[in-house]
Amino acid sequence: MAVLQMVLLLCAGSSLADDLFSLNVNIIAELQKLKSMNESIQKLEETLAKVLSENEALKTTVQDSQNKLEAFQKENEGKKVAFSAGLLESGTGYTGPISTPKTLVYKKVFSNIGGAYDSNTGVFTAPVKGAYYFRFYGHSHGGTTMAISLLKNGKTQCSLHAWKPTSNGNASNGVVLTLEIGDQISTQLWQNTWVYDDPESYTSFGGFLIFPL
Ligand SMILES: *[C@@H]1O[C@H](CO)[C@@H](O)[C@H](O)[C@H]1NC(C)=O
Ligand SMILES: *[C@@H]1O[C@H](CO)[C@@H](O)[C@H](O)[C@H]1NC(C)=O
Repeated sequence: MAVLQMVLLLCAGSSLADDLFSLNVNIIAELQKLKSMNESIQKLEETLAKVLSENEALKTTVQDSQNKLEAFQKENEGKKVAFSAGLLESGTGYTGPISTPKTLVYKKVFSNIGGAYDSNTGVFTAPVKGAYYFRFYGHSHGGTTMAISLLKNGKTQCSLHAWKPTSNGNASNGVVLTLEIGDQISTQLWQNTWVYDDPESYTSFGGFLIFPL
């Protein structure tokens, strides 16, 4: 009797042990799954943190570029420079001949974008450093020579000349100059020469900024 009971108990015990064993296996398997999920989540979190910080960096870069673009646009606003003027505002007549060279003051202002040309003095003052183009044109009548020079800060750069034309003369010249802020450009009539103008504006002076430097 006691032996039978023992056998029965052993049998029952071993099946219980089996159950407990398989339960343990399941729990360990589940824990392992959880662990690997945990690791995946951790990796995702790390990736997300990296992406977020990269995104912040990108935002800063985009903002920087935008600020630079706006500053550049603002800067360029001040760099629209162009003017054109005829010698006489109205009427008809000669300027010269004169005994000493004289700065020509072009009175009929067609355009003066940026206001760099002064129609009281005939002087253009560079508002920005850059490459500029200037041209001047002179018309005159027979007998007397016409000669005009373009000056940068008082120094001749280029000239036009018509030596004692028979009936009338035309001449022009143009130049590209690199100017610093404040450099002054004007045209000057040579001594003992003259130039003519009338409402057709034959005699004129103009220039513009090609690009800033
Ligand atoms: C999951 O990760 C956290 C943080 O690293 C840790 O504290 C926790 O014990 C982990 N859980 C499992 C089931 O691995
Ligand atoms: C000078 O230009 C004017 C105006 O275009 C013209 O009438 C005249 O014939 C020109 N003179 C000469 C000598 O070419």
